[in-house]
Amino acid sequence: MKNILITGGARGLGKELIDVYYTNGYNVFTVVRKQEDSEKLSKEFTSHFTPIVADLVDDNCIDIIKDNLTKSINHLDILINNAGIPGNAYKIADVTSTEMKALFDIHCLAIIRTTQATLDLLKNSEKPKIVNITSRLGSLSEMASGEFEGREFSYSYITYFLKRVLSKHNTIYL
Ligand SMILES: NC(=O)c1ccc[n+]([C@@H]2O[C@H](COP(=O)([O-])OP(=O)(O)OC[C@H]3O[C@@H](n4cnc5c(N)ncnc54)[C@H](OP(=O)(O)O)[C@@H]3O)[C@@H](O)[C@H]2O)c1
Repeated sequence: MKNILITGGARGLGKELIDVYYTNGYNVFTVVRKQEDSEKLSKEFTSHFTPIVADLVDDNCIDIIKDNLTKSINHLDILINNAGIPGNAYKIADVTSTEMKALFDIHCLAIIRTTQATLDLLKNSEKPKIVNITSRLGSLSEMASGEFEGREFSYSYITYFLKRVLSKHNTIYL
């Protein structure tokens, strides 16, 4: 059976991805922040599914994820780094360093944490994959072309640029 870990599975795209892989027979793991989301998902996905409660902006999540996975599997085939947050400010005049740091933490540092938590298990897979969900707002060329000018997009979504770079690093590393 193939094993997959999807972060941010409580709602949105993450929950849809759980549904797709679950329906296709994968053994699905997800990371959620809240215990109540873990319980809610377990009622919906009743077998070959394991929610892990952890906050991906906390370094402790590395051990929590690793311990939960190694309890039941010896290889991981796919890691999807989907968890993310939007920023509020649209303009540099309004954005705060607190908001920038929060988006940097979940969009960039968190994928280092999940990769460290799963690397040994990924190496045991015949075809390991790390998929990093980013945003077109992290595209330097689209930003530079002025495509997004005057539109009310989160300023701090630019942190997705580094997530794109880190994605390449992940691919090369494996
Ligand atoms: N929707 C779009 O149009 C769009 C466009 C470009 C990129 N994206 C990116 O695509 C991904 C999915 O988008 P979406 O619309 O499905 O997002 P969403 O509905 O806001 O869901 C994001 C999920 O990530 C989880 N999450 C956030 N911070 C976390 C943390 N520190 N630890 C663990 N989980 C955390 C959230 O948990 P809680 O439920 O506990 O809050 C939530 O379940 C995100 O990374 C988003 O930035 C989305």
